[in-house]
Amino acid sequence: MNDDVSQMIYNFSAGPAVLPAPVLRQAQEELPDWHGTGMSVMEMSHRGSDFIRIAETAEARLRELMAIPEDYRVLFLQGGATGQFAAVPMNLSAQDAVADYVITGMWGKRAHAEGAKFLDRANVAASSSPSTYVPPQDEWRLTPGADYVHITLNETIQGVRFATVPDTGAVPLVADVSSIILSEPIDVSDFGVLYAGAQKNIGPSGLVVVIVAEDLLGRARATTPQVWNWFENAKSGSMLNTPPTYAWYIAGLVFDWVADQGGVAAMAEVNRRKAAELYAAIDFEPVFVAEARAAGLVNLEGHRNVGGMRASIYNAMPEGGVDALIDFMKEFETRHG
Ligand SMILES: Cc1ncc(COP(=O)(O)O)c(C=O)c1O
Repeated sequence: MNDDVSQMIYNFSAGPAVLPAPVLRQAQEELPDWHGTGMSVMEMSHRGSDFIRIAETAEARLRELMAIPEDYRVLFLQGGATGQFAAVPMNLSAQDAVADYVITGMWGKRAHAEGAKFLDRANVAASSSPSTYVPPQDEWRLTPGADYVHITLNETIQGVRFATVPDTGAVPLVADVSSIILSEPIDVSDFGVLYAGAQKNIGPSGLVVVIVAEDLLGRARATTPQVWNWFENAKSGSMLNTPPTYAWYIAGLVFDWVADQGGVAAMAEVNRRKAAELYAAIDFEPVFVAEARAAGLVNLEGHRNVGGMRASIYNAMPEGGVDALIDFMKEFETRHG
């Protein structure tokens, strides 16, 4: 937990990541007795009117925050973003169909590898891996008539981000937005499907939010397991089976908090400031992580596959956290420079 008033540590983890302090405090207050019901949200029936209200309010808030058009469905599912790597082909194409993947880092590579299990032709239309850039669209080898094009809008590990949304014409664009959702405006109508693991800017891990254009529902294979079937889940209000109720509730609190901050555009402004200041100050040394940890700045290690260091500064990281990190970096430089 971070809190500029009672600061203990600043947590720069890439996910599960820092949650807004007011959300954790509200959750703590409401933990044993939600709004006088005498029970925790964790103990409520997902079919009861109280939880239905929590669920519907969360969805409505997300719709407002992202200006999600009415002809898109919002699903609150389980299995994280990785589950969707398999769900995407199972919901959008037949085994003998073609789908295109643009790979700009490790998550795109994993989405492609998983997709390839469910497609005879999972075409790599472009790949920058292991380098770190987005290949220009005029170099992509897209397949005419592909069922979809998959991209990772922000590659969390390599730090590769699409600056503009590619135009794939009539072919639906599917994007993994796990590490960018709610941190800057996304025009949902540019995409057929967006999905995001919750553990960065939304809430507890395990939950995944899927935003899917209604006209893409109903393409699922007959063999698609029910829990991965977007159409079945849309029909049942994401309550085909017992949903991750507590994670959904926390997500709703986070959505309220983002709205209280002024919405996604306001978050983007703060995030731009945080990133600009941090990039301006970056000059790391090997003992940095250990000394930073001792100073209450934790989880600055890079992903285990690439090493180095990284500071994840998702929505809930206060500006004070970035200031504390920059102060530490300057002080570190003076001592070790
Ligand atoms: C862009 C991206 N996609 C997918 C994942 C995997 O998400 P999950 O652990 O929810 O399956 C991550 C990591 O957390 C990620 O950063």
